[in-house]
Amino acid sequence: RTVLHVTGARPNFPKAAPVMRALADRGIDQILVHTGQHYDDKMSDVFFRELDLPRPDINLGVGSGSHGEQTARIMIELERVFTERRPDLVVVYGDVNSTVAATLVAAKLLIPTAHVEAGLRSFDLTMPEEINRLVTDKLADVLLATSPDAVAHLGNEGVHPDRIHFVGNPMIDTLLAQIDRFDVARARETFGLEGGYVVATLHRPGNVDDPQDVKEMVASLHAVADMAAVVLPLHPRGRARLADAGLFDHPGLHVVEPLGYIDFMGLVRGASFVVTDSGGVQEETTVLGVPCLTLRPNTERPVTITDGTNRLVTRDALPAVAAEVLAAGRPATWPVPALWDGKAGERIARVLDGFLENR
Ligand code: UD1
Ligand code: UDP
Repeated sequence: RTVLHVTGARPNFPKAAPVMRALADRGIDQILVHTGQHYDDKMSDVFFRELDLPRPDINLGVGSGSHGEQTARIMIELERVFTERRPDLVVVYGDVNSTVAATLVAAKLLIPTAHVEAGLRSFDLTMPEEINRLVTDKLADVLLATSPDAVAHLGNEGVHPDRIHFVGNPMIDTLLAQIDRFDVARARETFGLEGGYVVATLHRPGNVDDPQDVKEMVASLHAVADMAAVVLPLHPRGRARLADAGLFDHPGLHVVEPLGYIDFMGLVRGASFVVTDSGGVQEETTVLGVPCLTLRPNTERPVTITDGTNRLVTRDALPAVAAEVLAAGRPATWPVPALWDGKAGERIARVLDGFLENR
């Protein structure tokens, strides 16, 4: 019984770590493939050094490209790997191009697939991730959901209940396993922060690809930086456009390279609030009780709004909402979504073990 995991982009790594550990505890043989979709040290290697994640057995080194090029390169390479290794099950994570490419290849080779983080829907087909989620869930055999809304979406799409498993959130397993290392004092020292501060991240095409959007985004972020220091570990996507629009020109806005997981979470843990368009950060702030202002018109993670600290804001509204949140302070208590309890990896391993037994 061999399980082959396909990872490739930054958000995949904290999700795969607890699943691989729990499968190892069950004595299941595993192969870890890294597609190379992300390749900078701070977008990839640092997660392997910091998290309890084995080094990839295979790195396909596909790198960047247009959606068609990148997805196709991953498919060509994975078809060769799957044919040679013939795993009993392929496990894919999240909604990136590596996820959908692996699922398409496995489905055509009649290798069963399990999707970790199935059923999330933004209902916004302008997001490449929504396309990846729909195709992946249509083809995957085992659908592992992080929230009840995801289970409901799959049901509405006609998926048989036997394929759907509500297991909780493995990203939060990683957070809870590492939380003692999230050092706010060190983050403050590193970035010279006194008093309240804000953390921002930005990388969605809908926010960073169009020059007019970027201009408005920079103006809104500068307005926030007028109120409190902002640290923005900037994803490589859109960096040049944001720089051209003057992002770096405000003394209160510290634009830095992407951070390793432990440093990033140390910074987030102590923040007055976070401004982001990231998927994972909406979930992490919810568990840490840090208000999250999500710069998007929708979210595939509504549970972080109903049972967490998240709210959607437009670029225009950001400065006013930021002032309000700064005045209100951080919540003393806040809800956390069901089964975001640090045990999702074990639940996933139990489901996968059962699936392999019954084949
Ligand atoms: C990808 C995912 C997105 C996810 C994000 C997390 C898809 C379609 N998108 O977006 O869902 O939220 O990762 O971070 O899979 N680059 C580097 N170094 C790297 C990686 C990328 O400089 O290590 C630059 C390249 O210029 C590249 C650009 O970033 O063209 C975009 O990378 P890509 O992997 O295509 O998509 P992301 O925007 O990172
Ligand atoms: N992250 C990190 N350093 C950073 C920014 C993010 O370690 O500078 C981590 C964080 O845990 C986040 C995860 O990377 O949840 C994935 O973030 P990203 O925004 O890249 O992807 P998304 O969740 O939007 O797909």
